[in-house]
Amino acid sequence: MKTKVPFFDLAIQFKSTEEEIKSALDEVFHTQQFILGSKVQALEETIAQYCRSRYAIGVASGSDALLLSLMALGIGAGDEVLLPPFTFFATAGSVSRLGATPVFVDIDPETYNIDPSRIEEKISSKTKAILPVHLFGQCADMNPLLKIAKERKLFVIEDAAQALGAEYKPIAGEDGRRAGQMGDFGCFSFYPTKNLGAFGDAGMVLTDNPDLSEKVRLLRAHGSQPKYFHKRIGINSRLDTIQAAILLVKFKYLEKWTGERQKRAERYQLLFQELHPSVEGLRLPTVQYQNRHIFHQYVIRVPERDRLKKFLTQEGIGTDIYYPMPLHLQECYAFLKYRRGDLPNSEKASEEVLALPIYPELTEDQQIAVVDRIKAFYK
Ligand SMILES: Cc1ncc(COP(=O)(O)O)c(C=O)c1O
Repeated sequence: MKTKVPFFDLAIQFKSTEEEIKSALDEVFHTQQFILGSKVQALEETIAQYCRSRYAIGVASGSDALLLSLMALGIGAGDEVLLPPFTFFATAGSVSRLGATPVFVDIDPETYNIDPSRIEEKISSKTKAILPVHLFGQCADMNPLLKIAKERKLFVIEDAAQALGAEYKPIAGEDGRRAGQMGDFGCFSFYPTKNLGAFGDAGMVLTDNPDLSEKVRLLRAHGSQPKYFHKRIGINSRLDTIQAAILLVKFKYLEKWTGERQKRAERYQLLFQELHPSVEGLRLPTVQYQNRHIFHQYVIRVPERDRLKKFLTQEGIGTDIYYPMPLHLQECYAFLKYRRGDLPNSEKASEEVLALPIYPELTEDQQIAVVDRIKAFYK
Protein backbone atom coordinates (compact mmCIF):
# COMPACT_ATOMS: atom_id res chain seq x y z
CA MET A 1 0.00 0.00 0.00
CA LYS A 2 1.34 3.41 -0.94
CA THR A 3 1.72 5.98 1.82
CA LYS A 4 -0.78 8.79 1.40
CA VAL A 5 0.36 12.26 2.38
CA PRO A 6 -2.23 15.02 2.85
CA PHE A 7 -1.03 18.54 2.07
CA PHE A 8 -1.80 19.44 5.67
CA ASP A 9 -3.61 17.81 8.55
CA LEU A 10 -4.75 20.13 11.30
CA ALA A 11 -6.57 17.31 13.12
CA ILE A 12 -3.31 15.74 14.39
CA GLN A 13 -2.23 19.02 15.94
CA PHE A 14 -5.64 19.46 17.54
CA LYS A 15 -5.34 16.06 19.21
CA SER A 16 -2.09 17.09 20.88
CA THR A 17 -3.61 20.28 22.35
CA GLU A 18 -7.25 19.24 22.67
CA GLU A 19 -7.53 19.13 26.46
CA GLU A 20 -5.76 22.45 27.01
CA ILE A 21 -7.79 24.19 24.31
CA LYS A 22 -11.08 22.85 25.62
CA SER A 23 -10.30 24.06 29.10
CA ALA A 24 -9.23 27.52 27.80
CA LEU A 25 -12.51 27.72 25.88
CA ASP A 26 -14.46 26.63 28.94
CA GLU A 27 -12.98 29.58 30.79
CA VAL A 28 -14.18 31.95 28.06
CA PHE A 29 -17.66 30.39 28.04
CA HIS A 30 -17.96 30.86 31.78
CA THR A 31 -16.87 34.50 31.69
CA GLN A 32 -19.08 35.19 28.64
CA GLN A 33 -16.54 37.81 27.53
CA PHE A 34 -16.30 37.35 23.76
CA ILE A 35 -14.90 40.61 22.41
CA LEU A 36 -11.36 41.77 23.28
CA GLY A 37 -10.71 41.57 27.08
CA SER A 38 -7.85 40.07 29.06
CA LYS A 39 -7.14 37.12 26.74
CA VAL A 40 -6.72 39.42 23.74
CA GLN A 41 -4.50 41.72 25.79
CA ALA A 42 -2.40 38.75 26.93
CA LEU A 43 -2.02 37.58 23.33
CA GLU A 44 -1.03 41.09 22.21
CA GLU A 45 1.65 41.22 24.90
CA THR A 46 2.86 37.71 24.05
CA ILE A 47 3.19 38.37 20.32
CA ALA A 48 4.78 41.82 20.85
CA GLN A 49 7.42 40.28 23.12
CA TYR A 50 8.03 37.33 20.78
CA CYS A 51 8.53 39.66 17.81
CA ARG A 52 10.55 42.16 19.91
CA SER A 53 8.09 44.92 19.15
CA ARG A 54 6.74 47.55 21.54
CA TYR A 55 3.06 47.37 20.64
CA ALA A 56 0.68 44.79 19.22
CA ILE A 57 -2.99 45.23 18.37
CA GLY A 58 -5.23 42.22 17.83
CA VAL A 59 -7.51 42.50 14.81
CA ALA A 60 -9.98 40.29 12.96
CA SER A 61 -7.64 38.95 10.24
CA GLY A 62 -4.33 39.41 8.47
CA SER A 63 -6.17 41.23 5.69
CA ASP A 64 -7.56 43.70 8.21
CA ALA A 65 -4.11 44.11 9.77
CA LEU A 66 -2.90 45.40 6.39
CA LEU A 67 -5.99 47.54 5.85
CA LEU A 68 -5.80 49.14 9.30
CA SER A 69 -2.06 49.85 8.98
CA LEU A 70 -2.65 51.64 5.68
CA MET A 71 -5.61 53.53 7.19
CA ALA A 72 -3.52 54.62 10.18
CA LEU A 73 -0.91 56.05 7.80
CA GLY A 74 -3.63 57.99 5.98
CA ILE A 75 -3.07 56.18 2.69
CA GLY A 76 -5.95 56.61 0.27
CA ALA A 77 -7.09 57.88 -3.12
CA GLY A 78 -4.26 59.22 -5.28
CA ASP A 79 -1.54 57.38 -3.34
CA GLU A 80 0.65 54.58 -4.65
CA VAL A 81 2.02 51.65 -2.67
CA LEU A 82 4.86 49.46 -3.98
CA LEU A 83 4.46 45.73 -3.46
CA PRO A 84 5.32 42.39 -5.08
CA PRO A 85 2.70 40.74 -7.33
CA PHE A 86 3.70 37.23 -6.21
CA THR A 87 1.71 37.06 -2.98
CA PHE A 88 -1.75 36.42 -1.59
CA PHE A 89 -4.38 38.83 -2.88
CA ALA A 90 -4.85 40.65 0.44
CA THR A 91 -1.46 42.40 0.08
CA ALA A 92 -2.73 44.39 -2.91
CA GLY A 93 -6.45 44.19 -2.10
CA SER A 94 -5.98 46.17 1.12
CA VAL A 95 -4.34 49.01 -0.86
CA SER A 96 -7.12 49.03 -3.46
CA ARG A 97 -9.87 48.94 -0.81
CA LEU A 98 -8.68 52.38 0.32
CA GLY A 99 -8.73 53.83 -3.18
CA ALA A 100 -4.92 53.79 -3.45
CA THR A 101 -3.06 52.09 -6.30
CA PRO A 102 -0.82 49.05 -5.91
CA VAL A 103 2.34 49.42 -8.02
CA PHE A 104 3.87 46.03 -8.61
CA VAL A 105 7.62 45.44 -8.26
CA ASP A 106 9.09 42.17 -9.54
CA ILE A 107 10.55 39.55 -7.21
CA ASP A 108 13.93 37.95 -6.62
CA PRO A 109 13.53 34.50 -8.24
CA GLU A 110 15.53 32.80 -5.45
CA THR A 111 13.50 33.97 -2.46
CA TYR A 112 10.22 34.98 -4.21
CA ASN A 113 10.36 38.22 -2.23
CA ILE A 114 10.36 41.78 -3.58
CA ASP A 115 13.64 42.62 -5.34
CA PRO A 116 14.93 45.82 -3.69
CA SER A 117 17.03 46.69 -6.77
CA ARG A 118 13.81 47.20 -8.74
CA ILE A 119 12.10 49.49 -6.24
CA GLU A 120 13.59 52.89 -7.10
CA GLU A 121 12.49 52.80 -10.74
CA LYS A 122 8.87 52.44 -9.57
CA ILE A 123 8.86 55.38 -7.15
CA SER A 124 6.79 58.37 -8.27
CA SER A 125 5.63 61.58 -6.62
CA LYS A 126 2.53 59.64 -5.53
CA THR A 127 4.38 56.81 -3.79
CA LYS A 128 3.63 56.72 -0.06
CA ALA A 129 4.75 53.30 1.12
CA ILE A 130 6.54 50.05 0.38
CA LEU A 131 4.77 46.84 1.36
CA PRO A 132 7.23 43.91 1.28
CA VAL A 133 5.95 40.38 1.92
CA HIS A 134 8.01 37.80 3.81
CA LEU A 135 6.78 34.96 1.64
CA PHE A 136 6.71 31.32 2.72
CA GLY A 137 8.39 32.21 6.03
CA GLN A 138 11.58 33.93 4.89
CA CYS A 139 12.19 37.66 5.29
CA ALA A 140 12.54 39.93 2.29
CA ASP A 141 15.91 41.64 1.85
CA MET A 142 15.06 44.50 4.19
CA ASN A 143 18.31 46.49 4.54
CA PRO A 144 18.36 47.97 1.01
CA LEU A 145 14.58 48.38 1.14
CA LEU A 146 14.67 50.27 4.44
CA LYS A 147 17.49 52.46 3.12
CA ILE A 148 15.43 53.47 0.07
CA ALA A 149 12.37 54.07 2.27
CA LYS A 150 14.38 56.33 4.57
CA GLU A 151 15.96 58.31 1.74
CA ARG A 152 12.66 58.74 -0.11
CA LYS A 153 10.57 59.26 3.05
CA LEU A 154 8.29 56.31 2.44
CA PHE A 155 6.46 54.24 5.03
CA VAL A 156 7.21 50.53 5.27
CA ILE A 157 4.46 48.03 6.10
CA GLU A 158 5.65 44.44 6.38
CA ASP A 159 3.23 41.74 5.30
CA ALA A 160 4.50 39.15 7.77
CA ALA A 161 1.34 37.02 7.53
CA GLN A 162 3.44 33.93 6.75
CA ALA A 163 6.47 34.79 8.84
CA LEU A 164 5.76 34.78 12.58
CA GLY A 165 9.14 34.24 14.25
CA ALA A 166 11.20 34.57 11.06
CA GLU A 167 14.43 36.57 11.34
CA TYR A 168 16.37 38.71 8.93
CA LYS A 169 20.12 38.26 9.37
CA PRO A 170 21.99 39.71 6.42
CA ILE A 171 25.36 39.56 8.17
CA ALA A 172 26.79 36.48 9.88
CA GLY A 173 27.20 37.03 13.59
CA GLU A 174 24.84 40.03 13.60
CA ASP A 175 21.71 39.87 15.72
CA GLY A 176 18.68 38.95 13.65
CA ARG A 177 15.66 41.23 13.45
CA ARG A 178 12.25 39.66 13.65
CA ALA A 179 9.72 39.80 10.85
CA GLY A 180 7.13 42.49 11.47
CA GLN A 181 9.43 44.58 13.62
CA MET A 182 11.54 46.32 10.96
CA GLY A 183 9.03 48.61 9.27
CA ASP A 184 6.50 51.15 10.55
CA PHE A 185 4.01 48.30 10.83
CA GLY A 186 4.15 44.51 10.78
CA CYS A 187 1.01 42.59 9.85
CA PHE A 188 0.29 39.01 10.90
CA SER A 189 -2.37 36.43 10.12
CA PHE A 190 -3.51 33.59 12.36
CA TYR A 191 -5.47 31.90 9.58
CA PRO A 192 -5.91 28.23 10.63
CA THR A 193 -3.14 26.84 8.40
CA LYS A 194 -0.54 29.42 9.45
CA ASN A 195 2.30 28.30 11.74
CA LEU A 196 0.25 29.72 14.61
CA GLY A 197 -3.32 29.17 13.49
CA ALA A 198 -6.62 30.11 15.13
CA PHE A 199 -9.90 28.22 14.79
CA GLY A 200 -11.17 30.88 12.40
CA ASP A 201 -9.88 34.27 11.29
CA ALA A 202 -7.58 36.43 13.42
CA GLY A 203 -4.71 38.82 12.88
CA MET A 204 -2.35 41.28 14.55
CA VAL A 205 -0.63 44.58 13.86
CA LEU A 206 2.79 45.35 15.35
CA THR A 207 4.49 48.71 15.65
CA ASP A 208 7.13 50.45 17.77
CA ASN A 209 5.42 53.82 17.37
CA PRO A 210 3.02 54.75 20.22
CA ASP A 211 0.96 57.16 18.07
CA LEU A 212 0.51 54.65 15.27
CA SER A 213 -0.38 51.97 17.80
CA GLU A 214 -3.09 54.18 19.27
CA LYS A 215 -4.43 54.97 15.80
CA VAL A 216 -4.83 51.28 14.91
CA ARG A 217 -6.42 50.61 18.30
CA LEU A 218 -8.99 53.32 17.62
CA LEU A 219 -9.60 52.32 14.01
CA ARG A 220 -10.25 48.65 14.81
CA ALA A 221 -13.25 49.72 16.94
CA HIS A 222 -14.96 52.25 14.68
CA GLY A 223 -12.64 55.03 15.85
CA SER A 224 -14.62 55.42 19.03
CA GLN A 225 -13.19 56.85 22.25
CA PRO A 226 -14.96 56.95 24.60
CA LYS A 227 -17.68 54.58 23.46
CA TYR A 228 -20.19 56.18 21.06
CA PHE A 229 -17.93 59.20 20.48
CA HIS A 230 -16.05 58.79 17.22
CA LYS A 231 -12.70 60.50 16.69
CA ARG A 232 -12.07 58.84 13.30
CA ILE A 233 -14.00 56.71 10.84
CA GLY A 234 -12.83 53.21 11.60
CA ILE A 235 -14.11 49.68 11.05
CA ASN A 236 -15.15 46.76 13.22
CA SER A 237 -12.10 44.53 13.30
CA ARG A 238 -11.63 43.15 16.78
CA LEU A 239 -9.92 39.90 17.62
CA ASP A 240 -12.36 37.40 19.18
CA THR A 241 -11.63 36.38 22.76
CA ILE A 242 -12.22 32.75 21.77
CA GLN A 243 -9.50 32.95 19.13
CA ALA A 244 -7.13 34.66 21.57
CA ALA A 245 -7.70 31.89 24.14
CA ILE A 246 -6.87 29.23 21.53
CA LEU A 247 -3.85 31.11 20.22
CA LEU A 248 -2.45 31.56 23.73
CA VAL A 249 -2.52 27.79 24.24
CA LYS A 250 -1.00 27.06 20.84
CA PHE A 251 1.66 29.76 21.22
CA LYS A 252 3.36 27.65 23.93
CA TYR A 253 4.24 25.13 21.21
CA LEU A 254 5.13 27.55 18.42
CA GLU A 255 8.92 27.35 18.86
CA LYS A 256 8.79 23.56 19.02
CA TRP A 257 6.58 23.41 15.93
CA THR A 258 8.85 25.82 14.06
CA GLY A 259 11.84 23.61 14.92
CA GLU A 260 9.95 20.58 13.58
CA ARG A 261 9.20 22.41 10.33
CA GLN A 262 12.87 23.39 9.96
CA LYS A 263 13.92 19.76 10.56
CA ARG A 264 11.53 18.61 7.87
CA ALA A 265 12.88 21.19 5.44
CA GLU A 266 16.40 19.89 6.10
CA ARG A 267 15.21 16.32 5.59
CA TYR A 268 13.62 17.22 2.25
CA GLN A 269 16.89 18.82 1.24
CA LEU A 270 18.75 15.57 2.03
CA LEU A 271 16.16 13.34 0.38
CA PHE A 272 16.23 15.47 -2.76
CA GLN A 273 20.02 15.37 -3.02
CA GLU A 274 19.89 12.19 -5.04
CA LEU A 275 17.58 13.74 -7.59
CA HIS A 276 18.90 17.23 -7.63
CA PRO A 277 20.56 18.59 -9.74
CA SER A 278 20.12 15.61 -12.07
CA VAL A 279 16.63 16.84 -12.89
CA GLU A 280 17.05 19.84 -15.09
CA GLY A 281 15.22 22.85 -13.74
CA LEU A 282 14.38 21.43 -10.30
CA ARG A 283 15.06 24.05 -7.68
CA LEU A 284 14.78 23.66 -3.94
CA PRO A 285 14.10 26.49 -1.50
CA THR A 286 17.19 28.41 -0.43
CA VAL A 287 17.77 30.18 2.85
CA GLN A 288 19.45 33.51 2.23
CA TYR A 289 22.25 34.82 4.40
CA GLN A 290 21.82 33.62 7.98
CA ASN A 291 18.05 34.16 7.88
CA ARG A 292 15.78 32.28 10.21
CA HIS A 293 13.35 30.71 7.75
CA ILE A 294 10.30 29.36 9.56
CA PHE A 295 9.15 27.24 6.60
CA HIS A 296 5.53 28.18 6.55
CA GLN A 297 5.74 26.54 3.12
CA TYR A 298 8.34 24.32 1.47
CA VAL A 299 8.18 25.34 -2.18
CA ILE A 300 10.07 23.68 -5.01
CA ARG A 301 10.24 24.84 -8.61
CA VAL A 302 9.95 22.67 -11.70
CA PRO A 303 9.26 23.60 -15.32
CA GLU A 304 6.70 20.76 -15.70
CA ARG A 305 4.85 21.77 -12.54
CA ASP A 306 1.28 21.10 -13.68
CA ARG A 307 2.09 17.58 -14.90
CA LEU A 308 3.98 16.81 -11.71
CA LYS A 309 1.13 18.10 -9.53
CA LYS A 310 -1.38 15.95 -11.41
CA PHE A 311 0.83 12.88 -11.06
CA LEU A 312 1.31 13.46 -7.32
CA THR A 313 -2.43 13.90 -6.79
CA GLN A 314 -3.04 10.53 -8.47
CA GLU A 315 -0.40 9.03 -6.20
CA GLY A 316 -2.08 10.35 -3.05
CA ILE A 317 0.40 13.17 -2.37
CA GLY A 318 -1.18 16.53 -1.57
CA THR A 319 0.45 19.66 -2.96
CA ASP A 320 -0.66 23.23 -3.59
CA ILE A 321 0.27 26.17 -5.79
CA TYR A 322 1.08 29.49 -4.17
CA TYR A 323 0.31 31.37 -6.40
CA PRO A 324 -0.95 30.34 -9.84
CA MET A 325 -1.55 33.89 -11.13
CA PRO A 326 0.52 36.93 -10.17
CA LEU A 327 -1.60 39.85 -9.02
CA HIS A 328 -0.71 42.24 -11.87
CA LEU A 329 -2.40 39.83 -14.31
CA GLN A 330 -5.57 39.25 -12.27
CA GLU A 331 -8.87 40.15 -13.91
CA CYS A 332 -9.72 42.70 -11.22
CA TYR A 333 -6.49 44.58 -11.99
CA ALA A 334 -6.98 44.72 -15.77
CA PHE A 335 -7.58 48.47 -15.39
CA LEU A 336 -3.96 48.89 -14.30
CA LYS A 337 -2.96 47.75 -17.81
CA TYR A 338 -0.09 45.42 -16.96
CA ARG A 339 0.78 42.90 -19.63
CA ARG A 340 2.31 39.45 -19.54
CA GLY A 341 6.07 39.94 -19.67
CA ASP A 342 6.04 43.09 -17.51
CA LEU A 343 7.15 41.27 -14.35
CA PRO A 344 8.84 38.13 -15.70
CA ASN A 345 10.21 36.67 -12.46
CA SER A 346 6.78 36.69 -10.83
CA GLU A 347 5.14 35.25 -13.94
CA LYS A 348 7.66 32.44 -14.23
CA ALA A 349 7.39 31.62 -10.53
CA SER A 350 3.60 31.32 -10.91
CA GLU A 351 4.10 28.70 -13.60
CA GLU A 352 6.73 26.67 -11.76
CA VAL A 353 6.19 26.67 -7.98
CA LEU A 354 4.80 23.70 -6.11
CA ALA A 355 4.35 23.60 -2.34
CA LEU A 356 5.00 20.20 -0.75
CA PRO A 357 3.52 19.02 2.55
CA ILE A 358 5.38 20.52 5.52
CA TYR A 359 3.97 20.49 9.01
CA PRO A 360 5.35 19.53 12.42
CA GLU A 361 3.56 16.18 12.45
CA LEU A 362 4.72 15.05 8.98
CA THR A 363 6.55 11.73 9.44
CA GLU A 364 9.84 10.63 7.90
CA ASP A 365 8.01 7.88 5.98
CA GLN A 366 5.65 10.44 4.54
CA GLN A 367 8.52 12.65 3.42
CA ILE A 368 10.26 9.68 1.84
CA ALA A 369 7.00 8.87 0.03
CA VAL A 370 6.75 12.44 -1.31
CA VAL A 371 10.29 12.43 -2.69
CA ASP A 372 9.99 8.83 -3.98
CA ARG A 373 6.90 9.74 -5.97
CA ILE A 374 8.69 12.78 -7.42
CA LYS A 375 11.58 10.49 -8.37
CA ALA A 376 9.12 8.08 -9.99
CA PHE A 377 7.71 10.96 -12.05
CA TYR A 378 11.14 11.79 -13.43
CA LYS A 379 12.13 8.16 -14.18
C1 LIG B 1 1.01 36.98 2.41
C2 LIG B 1 -0.35 37.10 3.03
N1 LIG B 1 -0.88 38.32 3.24
C3 LIG B 1 -2.06 38.49 3.81
C4 LIG B 1 -2.83 37.41 4.23
C5 LIG B 1 -4.18 37.66 4.77
O1 LIG B 1 -4.41 37.07 6.01
P1 LIG B 1 -5.89 36.59 6.43
O2 LIG B 1 -6.22 35.38 5.64
O3 LIG B 1 -5.75 36.33 7.89
O4 LIG B 1 -6.81 37.71 6.15
C6 LIG B 1 -2.31 36.11 4.07
C7 LIG B 1 -2.99 34.91 4.56
O5 LIG B 1 -3.87 34.33 4.12
C8 LIG B 1 -1.06 35.95 3.43
O6 LIG B 1 -0.55 34.73 3.23
